[in-house]
Amino acid sequence: MIVGIPKEIKNHEYRVGATPEMVKLLKRAGHEIHVQTGAGSAIGFSDELYTAAGAKIVKDAKTLYEAEMIIKVKEPQESEYPLLKEGQILFCYLHLAPDPEQTKHLLERKVVGIAYETITDRNDRLPLLFPMSEIAGRIAIQVGATALQLNGGGRGVLLGGVPGVPPAKVVVLGGGALGTQAARMALGLGADVTIVDLNLTRLRELDAMYGPSLKTLYSTPVAIEEAVTKADLVVGAVLVPGKCAPKLLTRAMLKKMMPRSVIVDAAIDQGGCTESSRPTTHSEPTYVEEGVIHYCVTNMPGACARTATQALTNATLPYALKIATEGYKQALQDDPGLMLGLNVCHGHVTNRCVAQDLGYDYMPPQQLLRTDEDAESDSLVYADA
Ligand SMILES: NC(=O)c1ccc[n+]([C@@H]2O[C@H](COP(=O)([O-])OP(=O)(O)OC[C@H]3O[C@@H](n4cnc5c(N)ncnc54)[C@H](O)[C@@H]3O)[C@@H](O)[C@H]2O)c1
Repeated sequence: MIVGIPKEIKNHEYRVGATPEMVKLLKRAGHEIHVQTGAGSAIGFSDELYTAAGAKIVKDAKTLYEAEMIIKVKEPQESEYPLLKEGQILFCYLHLAPDPEQTKHLLERKVVGIAYETITDRNDRLPLLFPMSEIAGRIAIQVGATALQLNGGGRGVLLGGVPGVPPAKVVVLGGGALGTQAARMALGLGADVTIVDLNLTRLRELDAMYGPSLKTLYSTPVAIEEAVTKADLVVGAVLVPGKCAPKLLTRAMLKKMMPRSVIVDAAIDQGGCTESSRPTTHSEPTYVEEGVIHYCVTNMPGACARTATQALTNATLPYALKIATEGYKQALQDDPGLMLGLNVCHGHVTNRCVAQDLGYDYMPPQQLLRTDEDAESDSLVYADA
């Protein structure tokens, strides 16, 4: 199969869909790999390294997008929509639920869109979201701490305090992969950290991991309001896979928050978990509403793109190899967790949550793949007859 690795064009996005090492392994499995020139140059993966790994360097995006399978990082941007082809496999983050425009284009182009963020493993975890959430969780505290400084527009509060002065209060909404790393970093800096989740089992695990230094709180509107109105820094890290994030921090709560406190809403890629969040970029990461600083960058790991690319491709490689080698139908049928990654296919929405949130009919992927196969075998019978 011809596999294309484009240069990412989202604002300040320097991650890349495959490292030279990953290219080498795909090539060894018998595939032809096209890499767009400069795709990894910002993070030390030069065209020469890709060539040495066996890739063909392609000059422009238009030629690159002729490949049968595209492996990239972020969802396609507007200028990339017209380059997508019917039946092309698109393997990347998609985050469709909060993005009707992208969904419409992917359906019109009839691509096979397999989204990293909805693939699950045997333990029902999200193996291709996990590494990026770990990175974003750590970044959330770095950027939150900087924004809290006076020169960042914040309250002039040091996360860890000093002897004789209490530490800052950090509230993390969501105790999954991202929230846990954020809590861990904030605890490491000496902050007073509370983590909020709906899942009591998860709260018990966190309690066992961190002991009394981490406060855990069951997620109710009243508990959240009480916590965020006293917080210096709030991190948004909730997720209901595939769906728009629930709006846990309402505008009414925002109005009661301390002036120049900070919200880092990492859940912004799923629409954000505060009513006042809107997507921002690494060029202009923050804005102020109701006196509260909002940081809502949708591609936070892009700031640490070399680490993030290595972590991401460690996780995507086995799936990419399987899809390219066995074809997407076989690969999906062999692995129910990978099947959950199929969000759009040949003009149908094949993820139930995306269909619900955007008002499309839901086509169960098993049914779609079976229909295709049946149609193929029917036509074979017809041809034989
Ligand atoms: N902005 C970025 O660059 C970036 C990078 C990575 C991940 N993310 C996003 O961060 C979010 C979190 O990702 P994750 O990997 O940690 O997800 P996760 O599934 O590991 O954790 C989500 C947690 O949210 C909890 N939750 C769900 N509904 C809740 C509610 N109503 N109240 C409290 N808790 C609730 C779940 O129980 C779960 O523990 C996702 O939206 C993800 O896409 C953003």
